[in-house]
Amino acid sequence: MEPIKVGLLGLGTVGSGTVNVLLRNAEEISRRAGRNIQICSIATRNPKKQRQCDLTGINLTADPYKIVTDPQIDVVLELIGGIDTAYQLILQAIAHKKHVVTANKALIAHYGNEIFTAAQKAGVMVAFEAAVGGGIPIIKALREGLAGNRIEWLAGIINGTNNFILTEMRDKGCSFTQALEDAQKKGYAELDPSFDIGGIDAAHKLTILASLAFGIPLQFQKTYIEGIEKIAQEDINYAYRLGYRIKHIGIARRRSAGIELRVHPTLIPDRRLIANVDGVMNAVLVKGDAVGSTLYYGPGAGSEPTASAVIADLIDVVRTLTSDPENRVPHLAFQPNLLVNTPILSIIEAKTAYYLRMQALDRPGVLADITRVFGENNISIESILQQEPISGEQDVPIIILTQRVLEQNMDKAICQIEQLSSIKGKIKKIRLEAFR
Ligand code: NDP
Ligand code: HSE
Repeated sequence: MEPIKVGLLGLGTVGSGTVNVLLRNAEEISRRAGRNIQICSIATRNPKKQRQCDLTGINLTADPYKIVTDPQIDVVLELIGGIDTAYQLILQAIAHKKHVVTANKALIAHYGNEIFTAAQKAGVMVAFEAAVGGGIPIIKALREGLAGNRIEWLAGIINGTNNFILTEMRDKGCSFTQALEDAQKKGYAELDPSFDIGGIDAAHKLTILASLAFGIPLQFQKTYIEGIEKIAQEDINYAYRLGYRIKHIGIARRRSAGIELRVHPTLIPDRRLIANVDGVMNAVLVKGDAVGSTLYYGPGAGSEPTASAVIADLIDVVRTLTSDPENRVPHLAFQPNLLVNTPILSIIEAKTAYYLRMQALDRPGVLADITRVFGENNISIESILQQEPISGEQDVPIIILTQRVLEQNMDKAICQIEQLSSIKGKIKKIRLEAFR
């Protein structure tokens, strides 16, 4: 049988990993796919640049449109990133009846609804396993392995760069900037790393996971986003002393009023498996009504781990080339005409526990004032840690862990506590999840 002809857009971290793994494992891959896979053309910005892979016999071009319109190409791998050009290229590829594999979570989170509609009309597949969790097959797990469940919630460490930075800060006492530079050198970070540290990349991924889990359209704009920029070394240390780790987490939870969709730093008890996922590793916890809690773990970024997911998609595409488009696994797990518009809750409607750090004058009655405000707002305290004052200082840090409460009640209580004459400055608030 003729080999499947692949056109590759992008030959950076993920693109070069994909070429290397496809060549190295060619025999195993064709035994799985049932066909040989041949990379015919590759588009890069600079085709003359020296690359870390064997490009013998492959046509190199600076014009990606040549590839997406080339009648010889069966499948296009979009690994250039960014939104506008990638969107146009994928639509062109679909219009030319090519199947597409992409690692581009930003594109899927923003334009997935339109792309899948176009793909369905054209009868082609758009596969995106590498868009979430790097090498972890979390999309396949949600779309197929857990298809019999009603998903209650999912929560994940879904940005390798942020997890790497937080781990380096905790274990090696590295500065934020130094840890970020290391992540960039290792090829984990996005071209614009503010997407990682600002939480946008994790929000792209959470948008995709929530859609697959709950059968809702992709709704990036409704996701609440906080990054890791404001995590101070002292919060990492206090959390550690209290038996918690701080992780950057994406959470999607079904409640009777709607769906919580939020990305933010989170304290997690250190006895939980997910609290011990360190470095570039990612992990996603999924709670289904039938299966209970399941955990998916693996490298969340990097050249070959991501290539592993890209190639798994490519093999899936090759295997299903002969199947009737109507009978393929739907792009977003649920049949496209049966997606539902369950409301997405705003962050003030979220329900979670909290870690609060405040600076208070070292004088009698301060704790009584604080606990009175909590009582008036129906907030139960889980534990309090009060530091000894440093000699010569008049104020002390107080750390409070609360039980679960609506965010709007917590914000009201924080406002009231900040107005107490014994409290100096702003209160640091980090959400806390026990993931029982
Ligand atoms: P890189 O920046 O390393 O590579 C991008 C590649 O695209 C480069 O080869 C570049 O060419 C090429 N390129 C960019 N624009 C164009 C264009 N207009 N025409 C032709 N070629 C172009 O990115 P990554 O490999 O890190 O990321 C690629 C995608 O994978 C992104 O969507 C990213 O979010 C996603 N991803 C990345 C992961 C990672 O660990 N890095 C993990 C999971 C997903 P040139 O080399 O000549 O500059
Ligand atoms: N920049 C992303 C991360 C790449 O660090 O997780 C993987 O999607």
